[in-house]
Amino acid sequence: MENTVVVGAQWGDEGKGRIVDLLAEKADIICRFQGGANAGHTIKVRDQEFVLHLVPSGILYPSKLCMIGNGVALDPAALLEEIQHLEKRRIKVKGRLFVSGLAHLTFPYHRLLDEAKEHARGTKKIGTTHRGIGPTYTDKAGRVGIRFADLFEPKAFAEKVRANVREKNFLLSQFYKWKGISAEGILRRYAGYRPKLKGFFADTSAMLNSAIAQGKSVLFEGAQGTFLDVDYGTYPFVTSSNTIAGGACTGAGVGPTKIHSVLGVAKAYTTRVGAGPFPTEFPEAQAKELRDRGNEFGATTGRPRRCGWFDAVMVRQAVRANGVDSLAITKMDVLDEMVKVKICTGYKYKGKILREFPMATSILGKCQPVYEELRGWYKSTRGVRNWFDLPVQARYYLEKIAEQVGAKISIVSVGCEREETIWVTR
Ligand code: GDP
Ligand code: IMO
Ligand code: MG
Repeated sequence: MENTVVVGAQWGDEGKGRIVDLLAEKADIICRFQGGANAGHTIKVRDQEFVLHLVPSGILYPSKLCMIGNGVALDPAALLEEIQHLEKRRIKVKGRLFVSGLAHLTFPYHRLLDEAKEHARGTKKIGTTHRGIGPTYTDKAGRVGIRFADLFEPKAFAEKVRANVREKNFLLSQFYKWKGISAEGILRRYAGYRPKLKGFFADTSAMLNSAIAQGKSVLFEGAQGTFLDVDYGTYPFVTSSNTIAGGACTGAGVGPTKIHSVLGVAKAYTTRVGAGPFPTEFPEAQAKELRDRGNEFGATTGRPRRCGWFDAVMVRQAVRANGVDSLAITKMDVLDEMVKVKICTGYKYKGKILREFPMATSILGKCQPVYEELRGWYKSTRGVRNWFDLPVQARYYLEKIAEQVGAKISIVSVGCEREETIWVTR
């Protein structure tokens, strides 16, 4: 199998975990390269459901190796909780999961700052997951971050933590009027993590490159989605990492020459959690109907997801920014009962039709979607396993999407179980 990057083509929750789990069967290594415990990737295997936040979605196959790359914001408490949870469910993690020593650690002060900053933003809040993601990456770029490798150098680690806590406590108490935190408490807690995490510490970039040189295949599992990318997303309503496919190189430590393909994952409609413009968003009554049918509630925070029609302007941009070779379209079955379905093909702004995603987020907020309306298929697709067994209107809908976004569709997902998949080989 090729080395493939799997990325979200919308605002996250496209079903990346479910698709990575599907593809992982044929890969040797599955590697996360960005994001942190803000991600929530749900995988259903028969009667069991797993929600993964930091651990790659390959972990459910006993023979696969999983890696957390340097680009990930690593919250050790969240990681240990997740490992414990998986091991309780008889999923072996030790000896199969490797974490880059270069990954930046999330500390309790990052979480507090995330909350305090959101509170201070008031009505202008981003709607973050409160997992400390923004502040962790802020420290990384600000060159005061503390990395996983530092955890194993106790003296230097303590100095860094104390220096950071001094500054963060000042900011928290004086500027945000928020509660502070004790450095000694953090040091005690993190000293407890040290022996538990030692076995996962690795040079994952070296491991990946050596595995690739031996002909092994790697799946790079993206978190969030293209429009939450810190550069390409609807800034400032974004996360703080590069979620696009290029992030796999910087976040895993492999060169672009080692990546063979990019698979974009998009839902058959659009959802978003958190604040920010959303041109095709449904009014609440309509959103509720789809939300209930598609179970659109955040896997990390439980928040109801905002819902709307498929936006081809966005996905067209995602295809370009990621270099998408093909798309996986998920949750087709959720549209089964729609009498009509719509695809947004452009935006109307100040009397003009925009075909491209505007760079200014303020313009996006004023765009009106231009739709192509199609008849629904009004038939269950859940049992369909073959492209030609799909109702003709469903095929037409997918063909329209492919034509509009400029990418072929290689996978259609019609349910959350592994077998509820159509491999499009036409
Ligand atoms: P991720 O963050 O991109 O991995 O996506 P999430 O796991 O947050 O959200 C996707 C949700 O949709 C999960 O609950 C999946 O089990 C579910 N799902 C994925 N594909 C399908 C599908 O084709 N049909 C239905 N009904 N559910 C799906
Ligand atoms: P997965 O990997 C959907 C959103 C938050 C918020 C913004 C910034 O499951 O697709 P952050 O906590 O990252 O600073 O929040 O990004 N967000 C996600 N939305 N899926 C995710 O991950 C998300 N991770 C962050 O809701 O709007
Ligand atoms: Mg999710």
